[in-house]
Parts: sequence; C-alpha cells; structure tokens
Amino acid sequence: MCATIIPEKHMHYPVLLNEIVSIISPQYGGTFIDCTFGQGGYSSKILGYSNTKVIALDRDKDTLKESLYLKKNFENRFIYKNLKFSQLNNLKLKNENIKAVIFDLGYSFTQIKDKKKRLSFDAKGELNMKMGLNDFSASDVINRLDEKELEKIFKFFGEEKESKKIASRIVRERKKKPINTENLVKIIKTTKKIKNNKIHSATKIFQALRIFVNKEITELIYGLINATKVLKEDGIIIVVSFHSIEDKIVKYFFKSLSEEKSVSRYMPKTDSKKNLLTIIEKKPILPSQKEIKKNPPSRSAKLRYAIKKHNFYDFETDILEKFKYLIDIENYSKKL
Ligand SMILES: C[S@@+](CC[C@H](N)C(=O)[O-])C[C@H]1O[C@@H](n2cnc3c(N)ncnc32)[C@H](O)[C@@H]1O
Repeated sequence: MCATIIPEKHMHYPVLLNEIVSIISPQYGGTFIDCTFGQGGYSSKILGYSNTKVIALDRDKDTLKESLYLKKNFENRFIYKNLKFSQLNNLKLKNENIKAVIFDLGYSFTQIKDKKKRLSFDAKGELNMKMGLNDFSASDVINRLDEKELEKIFKFFGEEKESKKIASRIVRERKKKPINTENLVKIIKTTKKIKNNKIHSATKIFQALRIFVNKEITELIYGLINATKVLKEDGIIIVVSFHSIEDKIVKYFFKSLSEEKSVSRYMPKTDSKKNLLTIIEKKPILPSQKEIKKNPPSRSAKLRYAIKKHNFYDFETDILEKFKYLIDIENYSKKL
C-alpha cells in the first residue's frame, strides 16, 4: 500500500511516473493539479518542463517542508496547499484551464516510517494512523466503537475473513485496559485461525483502520467528483490506486460517466445522451517488471485515467448511492 519507496535505499520513488508523463504531455505546458503532493515526485517532474504550472495539495502538513524547495525554484509556477483533495472545489478553480488532475493514493515512505503517525503494525505505543487534518485516531476507533461496527470496518475495508472473532476479542480485551498498537497486533495474531504465509496477520485490519481513520472512501469519491468538475474539455483525470476498494470506486466512476446515461443538467436536452468522460484504455496500466524490481511496493499499483469531453462544471453521478454502504460505515465516526 505504501506507494513510493525504494526500501533498501530509503528513497522516495514516484510510481508510474513515465506513464503519467506520457498521458499528460507536460512538454506542451499547462496547469496541473497534483492532489497528493507527498514528496513532490510528480510535481517536480512536471515543473521541469517550461510553461507548466502546478497546484499541489496534501493533507499531511509535514509535506510542507518538501514543497519549500519547489516554491524557491519555481516561485511563479508552483502553489502548495495543506488541504484534503475532497475540498478541491474550494480552490475557486472554476475558470482555470486545468489540463490534468492527478491522484497517487496511499502513503509515502516517510509517512509509513513516521514514528508519530503509527500507520504500520511495526509501530509502538498508542494507536494513531492520522495522515493529517483528521478528527479522530485509530485509538478512538478501537477503544470506543461497538463490536458490530468494528466487525463491519474490518470486513468491508480490510476484507478480513475473521472480522467477527477479532472484533469480539477486542471488545473483551479493552474492558481490562485500553488497546495500543502492540496489544492490537497480539490480539489479531492470537485470534486468527486462518494462516497466510504471504502477508502479516495484522495487514488487513491495519488497512481497514487506516481507511476508516482517514475517511479514504469519502475522500476519494468527493475527490473524483470535484476533479471532474474543475476540468475543462479535454482535461484528464488520473488515479493511481493501491487496493481493490479504491480501484473498484475509480473504475465505476469512470465507466458510469462514460456511458450513455451520464447527463449534465446544463446540457441542452438534445445533447443529453452525450458522455461526459472518455476512457481510452479499458484495462488499468500496471508498473513494468523493471519498476517492480526497483520498487517492490509498486506491484499493487493500478493507473486509470479518463478524459473529460464536455465543458460542464456540474454533472450528475450515482457514485454516492452506489457506494453508500461504504460511506455509511465511515459515518460510524460521527459518534467519536
Ligand atoms: C503515495 S503519496 C504521493 C507521492 C507523490 N506522488 C510523490 O511523487 O511524491 C500519497 C500522499 O497523498 C497524501 N494524501 C492522501 N490522502 C489525501 C487526501 N485525501 N487529500 C490530500 N492528500 C492526501 C498523503 O498525505 C501522501 O503524502
């Protein structure tokens, strides 16, 4: 899930960078939105081409220091905001000619290694998992939500087969003392009966908690909606995703808006059957063997992109209804 690392060298490695460059053609200039700035791999590559401008966002304020170098070198062509991409529409971009909006989902190497964020099961101490601009932590989730709610989070966001047993054990154990990262890993290890030698037994539960704490489903859905709004005709929306839930959402969003039923309320009636998006490549683009060898975590990356065919700001989509069952689970957080 960690997208951009070369573990041996402790270096940052932007996934599918060449493929992205060939899709967005920065050599012809234009304004690009990098929704997941991270350590600036995509942004700096784009700024390397003259006549480009980058608006970069990241929810993690620790990425600000990475942005200072670009600000210094490309003062008039680079803007950085500590903002969640679901709020892209607050940037007042309605009249900007945005050539592409890019999402590289997941976490950077720096975040996974950050001792305070405790995103990984190797971490020690109180559960956290906040990426930035969060309202609650993984400790609140594990120690305060109901058993049934925990079970659903594990089942739907982690696809964990033993969700019920793990949730029930957590609720029993937390009556004795609050559960921290080490206790949670121990509970999972000793509860699970099904062994999988390929992944750590806590991988799925930790994925589920990261998604829930960072409201990744709601973020992605509103990110996609708002990215599509701010693009002009022929603008491109690109998403690199790292797990099946994200990919399912992206695939559905692109496909549903590229079928006959996509209708903008601002389209003239006679044009109402026109598609809003065009998908050029039906199958996702995957990293090459060479890239995977250089950066093994890139093996789970999938890139999908679509081109906006009409100049409409507002449009209709059923994505919120389609994934309501997941959004409803994220909304358990309202009581925290
Ligand atoms: C995989 S890293 C991106 C790496 C980047 N492409 C690069 O080349 O350096 C993902 C970044 O997206 C940020 N992020 C994740 N969800 C976000 C959201 N909803 N809004 C804004 N930033 C987000 C994370 O904080 C992290 O820095």
